[in-house]
Amino acid sequence: MAVTQMKSTTSAAQAPQSKPSPMGAHIAVKGLSHTYRKHDGRVLENIDFEINPGEIIALLGRSGCGKSTLLHMLSGLTQPSEGEVVINGNTVRAPSPKWVMMFQAPSLYPWLTVTKNAALGLRFSRRNGEIAARVPEILRLVDLEAFADRNVQELSGGQQQRVALARSLVPRPEVLLLDEPFSALDAFTRRNLQQDVRAIARDLGLTLVIVTHDVGEAVRMADRVIVLQSNPGRVAKDTRIDLAEDERGGGTEGFQREHTRLMGIYSHVADIADMPTENDFTQI
Ligand SMILES: Nc1ncnc2c1ncn2[C@@H]1O[C@H](COP(=O)(O)OP(=O)(O)O)[C@@H](O)[C@H]1O
Ligand SMILES: [Mg+2]
Repeated sequence: MAVTQMKSTTSAAQAPQSKPSPMGAHIAVKGLSHTYRKHDGRVLENIDFEINPGEIIALLGRSGCGKSTLLHMLSGLTQPSEGEVVINGNTVRAPSPKWVMMFQAPSLYPWLTVTKNAALGLRFSRRNGEIAARVPEILRLVDLEAFADRNVQELSGGQQQRVALARSLVPRPEVLLLDEPFSALDAFTRRNLQQDVRAIARDLGLTLVIVTHDVGEAVRMADRVIVLQSNPGRVAKDTRIDLAEDERGGGTEGFQREHTRLMGIYSHVADIADMPTENDFTQI
């Protein structure tokens, strides 16, 4: 089903409880390792996992464990030293409008309106003909309809991040990659966005990968959490978050249970990663 058709019946605020047939892509990470030229040793080692179409995944790990490096490889911005990322059967060799990345800083054009910023992806890929129908539809989805003609510099940080989200969604990506996109926002705004982004991804059936070091964010947003350990970055645990949509807001027994469980895994993994290894003078 086309996204345009779906949108006429649903919005972020009223996302369906059951998932529509996914628009999202299948991702396979196969035997991926990485060494940066200006960095001693491997940053990532032997990473293997698969993500199903329409699945929402959190990559959880401490600062420096290689989360951003891995996300850059999913997006095609960086090539791994070994192994590969395969999206819908094709090895990722370069960025594509089908898999888009969103960063912590929204990097918008402050002198342009919300509508013009949101349309940039289509403009750059010479799909101007789609702008008139697609941009208002997505602005409605991210709850920015009322701000369409405002300059983005007049908006709050949370609203600016919604514009960046709209810009990412307008070209109809199959995969959305988020690198700690809410960490600069206040707690209340952050929670609203976490909830809305999950609802939107489910609504559109997108495959969503979010990088975070925040256990609460992982529990609120993800169907499955891949916990990474450091030095070198490896998959320490791959675990499902089985919570109904109405339990994800926090404050429920189910949320508390999953939060405690994931925090236990995360602390355990972080402790292992903190153990100084032989010849590792940076830890002393
Ligand atoms: N371009 C680069 N050149 C050399 N080392 C890098 C580069 N980017 C990241 N690193 C190093 O790789 C490790 C993982 O970084 P990163 O992927 O940014 O981790 P995270 O996102 O989990 O904080 C860190 O030790 C970092 O210093
Ligand atoms: Mg990072």
